[in-house]
Amino acid sequence: MHKTKIGVIGCGYWGPKLARNFHELPSADLRWVADFRTDRLAHMQELYPGVAATRDYQEVLASDVEAVAIATPVSTHHQLAMQALAAGKHILVEKPLAATVAQALDITDAADNYGLVAMVGHTFQYNPAVNRVRDLIASGELGQIYYINATRVNLGLFQPDINVMWDLAPHDISILLHILGTDPCEVSAQGEAYVQKRTGIHEVAYLTLRFPGDILASLRVSWLDPVKTRRITVVGSKKMLVYDDIADTKVVLYDKGVEVPPYSDTPQEFYLSYRHGPETVVPVRWEEPLHLECRAFVGCIQDPQARCVRCSRRDQVSCSTARVGVKVVRILEQAQKSLMNGGGRELIGLR
Ligand SMILES: NC(=O)c1ccc[n+]([C@@H]2O[C@H](COP(=O)([O-])OP(=O)(O)OC[C@H]3O[C@@H](n4cnc5c(N)ncnc54)[C@H](O)[C@@H]3O)[C@@H](O)[C@H]2O)c1
Repeated sequence: MHKTKIGVIGCGYWGPKLARNFHELPSADLRWVADFRTDRLAHMQELYPGVAATRDYQEVLASDVEAVAIATPVSTHHQLAMQALAAGKHILVEKPLAATVAQALDITDAADNYGLVAMVGHTFQYNPAVNRVRDLIASGELGQIYYINATRVNLGLFQPDINVMWDLAPHDISILLHILGTDPCEVSAQGEAYVQKRTGIHEVAYLTLRFPGDILASLRVSWLDPVKTRRITVVGSKKMLVYDDIADTKVVLYDKGVEVPPYSDTPQEFYLSYRHGPETVVPVRWEEPLHLECRAFVGCIQDPQARCVRCSRRDQVSCSTARVGVKVVRILEQAQKSLMNGGGRELIGLR
C-alpha cells in the first residue's frame, strides 16, 4: 500500500495530536515536524525518533512530503497554506481555515488551480456522535427542526490573537452546517471582554444564527466558565435530543413534545397535550474523530474519486473540504461585525 508522506507544521497543543494520528495511520508516513520552539521539537523527537524535525518549515516544504498539516495560530494559516500549495503539497489546515474570507477564498482557489486537496480541521464533522445526530435529523425522527442550542464553555484556554468566538465557535458552526445540511441566512452576536479589557479580546460570546425554515440556533462560547460543557440540544416537532460530547452516553433521544389540541376551552385541556414519552440512549460506535479526519485527508489524496466539492452524506471521507471552511469563516466574519456593532443582525449570503 502506498503511504502518503506527511509533514506537520506547528507542534504546540494540537499539532502533536495530528502527528500521533498520522503516525498510527497505515496509509500515512509521518516524515517531518516543524515548530519554532526547540522544546516542542525535542518532545516530538522523543515520541517519534525516526521523524525529521526542524525550526524552519521551509525545510518541510522543500522535502519530499506530499502533504502538510498546519496547526499554527490562525493568523499564520493563509501564508503557510499558500506556500505549501505553491510547493505542490496537499494541505490540511486547522480551524478556522483563515482569519478572513478573502484569505480563505485565496486558499481554496489556489488549491483548485494546483489540483491539490485542501481540507480544514473541522474535527466534529467526523465525530460519530455528531453523525448519529445528523442521521436522526435526516431520517425525520425528530420531525421538523425548531431550534438548536449549543454550549461550549470552560475555564480557558485564553488565546492571545483571537477572541473566544473565533476559537470555539468554528466547532459549533461546522456542526450546525453538517447536521442541518443547510447554511444560515443571518447571524448576530454579543460578547464581552471581562478579564482582558485592555486588549478587548472577548472571553464570552452569544451567537444567534437563523437558518431556512425558521430554524434558530443559539451558541454560547466562553473561556470563563467553571464547568467544562460541550452540549447541543436539538428540539424538533416530534422528538428532542441532547448530544453531550463529554458524557459517556453521548446522544439521548427524548420522546417529548407538545401537540396543540384542535381546540381547548380550559388550561387543563392544553396541558394534556404535552407528551412525556421515554428517553432512549442512542448507540454510537465510537472512533476517534481526529483519526477519521486524518484518514479522510489521506483518502482524498490517494483517491481523487473520493474528493467532493460539497459535504455529502454518502461521501463521509471528504466532508470537511476547505470550501466548508470558507463558509465557516464567512459566518464568523459577519458575526464579528455584529459583535462590534452591538449585536445587530448581519446577512450571510453564502450562496
Ligand atoms: N480541531 C480541533 O479540535 C482543534 C483543537 C485545538 C486547536 N485547534 C487549532 O489548531 C491550531 C493551533 O492551535 P494550538 O492550540 O495548537 O496552538 P499552540 O499555540 O499551542 O501551538 C501552535 C504552535 O505553532 C508554532 N508555530 C507558529 N508559527 C509557526 C511557523 N511558521 N512554523 C513552525 N511553527 C510555528 C508555535 O511555536 C506553537 O508551538 C489553531 O488553528 C487552533 O484553532 C484545533
